Amino acid sequence: MLGLKLPTDPRWVNIVEKNIEDILTDHAYCEQKAASTAISLIVSFPEYTELVKEMTDLVNEEMSHFKMVHDLIIERGWTLGRDRKDDYVLQLLKFFPKGGSRTTQLVHRLLYAALIEARSCERFRLLSEELADKRLAKFYRKLMISEAGHYTMFLKFARQYGDKKEVNAKWQALLDYEAKIMKSLGNKETIHG
Ligand SMILES: [Fe+2]
Ligand SMILES: [Fe+2]
Repeated sequence: MLGLKLPTDPRWVNIVEKNIEDILTDHAYCEQKAASTAISLIVSFPEYTELVKEMTDLVNEEMSHFKMVHDLIIERGWTLGRDRKDDYVLQLLKFFPKGGSRTTQLVHRLLYAALIEARSCERFRLLSEELADKRLAKFYRKLMISEAGHYTMFLKFARQYGDKKEVNAKWQALLDYEAKIMKSLGNKETIHG
């Protein structure tokens, strides 16, 4: 359903389970970055009214996710740590060439966002199924459903604003590229690592 070409190695959950503090910190920043991306889309493409409306709601939703994760961190007696660079996202954002028309740039940004949501969703599903901590598993199940909705929304906008055939071809190419990135990852206590 998510279109991903390479599933996450289930052993990744074992790495995560040994370091819940790190995964929660990394996860909190994923939510903050999702909100920042939505704000940045509003600023860059204000004339796309429907997108601006959806992104406004998304900022609030992603920040509410940030709050949920942050509350979990506090509850466990920890303090939110510093952000670390996300190698997965940095590599992913190299795929499309820079420049092109405004519509092309918008489509590329929407496809990147769709993919990051899809992979987050897949990893949350894995956490919801495999974590021994049942409360945390339930938490990830709830978030998995939201992120699936975001993935669908970003892909829908890309197809709506760009040429549908071209967008579909780009989406497939991006999925192939992402699978290659994933081969070298899956071994760190981060959401995408
Ligand atoms: Fe989120
Ligand atoms: Fe999201």
